[in-house]
Amino acid sequence: MPRTSVLTGAASGIGKATKDLLEQRGERVIGVDIHDAEVVVDLSTAEGRAALVQEAGRISGGSIDAVYAVAGLAVPAPATVAVNFFGTVATLEGLRPLLAGSEAPRAVLVSSMAALLPSDGELVALLTDGDESAAMARAEVLARDPATTGQLIYASAKLALSRWVRREAATAAWAGAGIPLNAAAPGIIATPMTAGLIATAEAREQLLHVVPMPLNGIAEPIVVARLLAWLNSEENTHLCGQVIYVDGGSDVVLRGDSVW
Ligand SMILES: NC(=O)c1ccc[n+]([C@@H]2O[C@H](COP(=O)([O-])OP(=O)(O)OC[C@H]3O[C@@H](n4cnc5c(N)ncnc54)[C@H](O)[C@@H]3O)[C@@H](O)[C@H]2O)c1
Repeated sequence: MPRTSVLTGAASGIGKATKDLLEQRGERVIGVDIHDAEVVVDLSTAEGRAALVQEAGRISGGSIDAVYAVAGLAVPAPATVAVNFFGTVATLEGLRPLLAGSEAPRAVLVSSMAALLPSDGELVALLTDGDESAAMARAEVLARDPATTGQLIYASAKLALSRWVRREAATAAWAGAGIPLNAAAPGIIATPMTAGLIATAEAREQLLHVVPMPLNGIAEPIVVARLLAWLNSEENTHLCGQVIYVDGGSDVVLRGDSVW
């Protein structure tokens, strides 16, 4: 039987590349996005997240093999917190019951190397507490701060997401249920999200100064798609709570051996 997955962010960039790859391999993918998808929902809202669970259950017939939480935003505004953190967590927790019938259930999310960049400790703490209204209020303050102009919001959401994976993956709900839960942390990937940031040689150089990628530079979305597909494949039986940097070396350059 071909594997069936639910994949958010299916309309563009990394999500679209992953959906295309899985389908080329003969798998079934129920694509989710705010436009141009089998399931059209807004993951920034409670209604959209509930509709995702309901529709995915209905279309799949109540059983899936894998969840890919890829959808994300990179605007310096509270919506980025709503989609990137709370939308991602709701996707994984909401769809987890559908994995119960699979012989090889898997789940993966997309964090970012941006988790290594400057972030806001107060926002990260509120996200870790799962307090959405307080986190949205803090993000609103950050968005209006003339000094940082909302630039800390994306990194804060991704840092909290990477920590969430490590906190959750070994629990009874995931590892205890036989579900490997892991994350990919991309460097700069050429998608509509980054198009404006890498449009000129000068802009690319500036960005690569912040996100150094000595190994092969800026990547195409298929590079991340291949990693996500493997993390959610039957072959992955023992990776638990890992955040895999697929970043051309930015993690290594920025953190060196400090993590060990
Ligand atoms: N492109 C990069 O350099 C890069 C680097 C690190 C991490 N990421 C992460 O990878 C993921 C995919 O990004 P991408 O580069 O493919 O961007 P993208 O903009 O091409 O795709 C993101 C998709 O998410 C969808 N989405 C946004 N808001 C939504 C909402 N409220 N409800 C439902 N769907 C929504 C968009 O419609 C879009 O199809 C994101 O989580 C992003 O943060 C990207």
